[in-house]
Amino acid sequence: MNLLYTSDPERGRIWRDIFGQEAGDIDFIEPPQPYDPASIRYLAAWNPPRDLIANLPNLEVLFSIGAGVDQFDMDGLPSHVDVVRMIEPGIVGGMVEYVTMAVLAMHRDLIAYREAQRAERWSPIKLVPARQRRVGVMGLGQLGQAALAALRPFGFALSGWSRSPHEMEGVTCHAGPDGLDAFLANCDILVCLLPLTPETRGILNRDLLGRLPRGAALINAARGGHLVTRDLLALLDEEHLSAAMLDVTDPEPLPAGHPFWTHPRILLTPHVASMTRADSAARALIANIRRHQAGAAMDGLVVRGRGY
Ligand code: NAP
Ligand code: GLV
Repeated sequence: MNLLYTSDPERGRIWRDIFGQEAGDIDFIEPPQPYDPASIRYLAAWNPPRDLIANLPNLEVLFSIGAGVDQFDMDGLPSHVDVVRMIEPGIVGGMVEYVTMAVLAMHRDLIAYREAQRAERWSPIKLVPARQRRVGVMGLGQLGQAALAALRPFGFALSGWSRSPHEMEGVTCHAGPDGLDAFLANCDILVCLLPLTPETRGILNRDLLGRLPRGAALINAARGGHLVTRDLLALLDEEHLSAAMLDVTDPEPLPAGHPFWTHPRILLTPHVASMTRADSAARALIANIRRHQAGAAMDGLVVRGRGY
C-alpha cells in the first residue's frame, strides 16, 4: 500500500515520522526516493506535474495538501481518480483567526486610522456597535461556518450565502442566485470563503460588489481568481467600497508596481490566512486512507463536476 508525497520537504519529514509510527502498513514515498509507479495507490500533493499522474497507472486517490483543489487540472485527471480536499483543524483554526482579525479591523476602521497616522492626523471615528454591523460570509463550508461561529460572540448581525440551503443558529442563511440580492443588501463587511470553480471565478466583480451598501468593506481570504482587480479599484475610487483586506491575489506573488501594493484603502497579506498544520493533517490523511480502505466515504471528497 503506497502513498506518494510531492510537496514541502519539511512537512514531508514530519509526515514520514507520523506514518511510520501510526500507519506502518502504508509506505510513505517521497522523491527522489525511487519507487515503482505501478505501486502507487495514493498521491498527496499541492500542484503535481501533469505527467506525474499520467504515469501512475494504479492511482486511486489524489489528496490535496490544502483546503482548495483549484490548483489541480481536473480535466487532465483520469475520471476514476477520486480528489479529496484537506479537512484538518489547523486550516480551520488559522482561518478563524484571520477572518476574526480582518472583520474586527474593518469594523474598527483600522485602514482609516492607518491613513490618519501616516498623515499625523488625530481623528477619532464614532464607534458603531457590533450589533449594528452586518457581516456576510460567502461560502458556508468548513471555513465559512467556523468563521461565522467565531464571530457570533461579538454580536455582529451575521448572514451567509451558499449554493444549497443551510441553517445555522444566529446566522441568516441565503442560497443560490435567488438569495444573492437579499444577502448582499445586508453586508457592511463581506467575507469571501468560496472555492474557486468555473462558477465562482470572477464573482467579486462590479455587478456583485455594486449591490453592497455604500461604504461596505471586502475581505477576500479565498482565492485571487474570485476578484476582478479593476472593478475593486474602481469601486474604491468611487467610494462605493470603503476598504478591502486581501489575503489572496491573482497572480501570486503580486508583480512589482501592482496597484494593490500601495493602495491606501487596501490591506494585503501574502496568502497566509491559514496553513495546513503538518501533524494534524498527517492524521487527517491517515484517517481518510483508512476510510477508503474500508470502502467508507472520505472526508472532503470533491464532486469532480462541481469543482469543490
Ligand atoms: P468547502 O467546505 O468546500 O465549502 C465551500 C462553500 O462554498 C460551500 O458552502 C458551498 O455551498 C459554497 N459554494 C460553492 N460554490 C458556490 C456557488 N457557485 N455559489 C454559492 N456558494 C457556493 O470549502 P472550505 O474548506 O470552506 O474552503 C473554501 C475555500 O477557502 C477553499 O476552496 C480555498 O480556496 C480557500 N482557502 C484559502 C486559504 C487561505 O489561506 N487564504 C486557506 C484555506 C482555504 P454548499 O454548502 O451549498 O455546497
Ligand atoms: C490554502 O490556500 C488552502 O487551500 O489550504
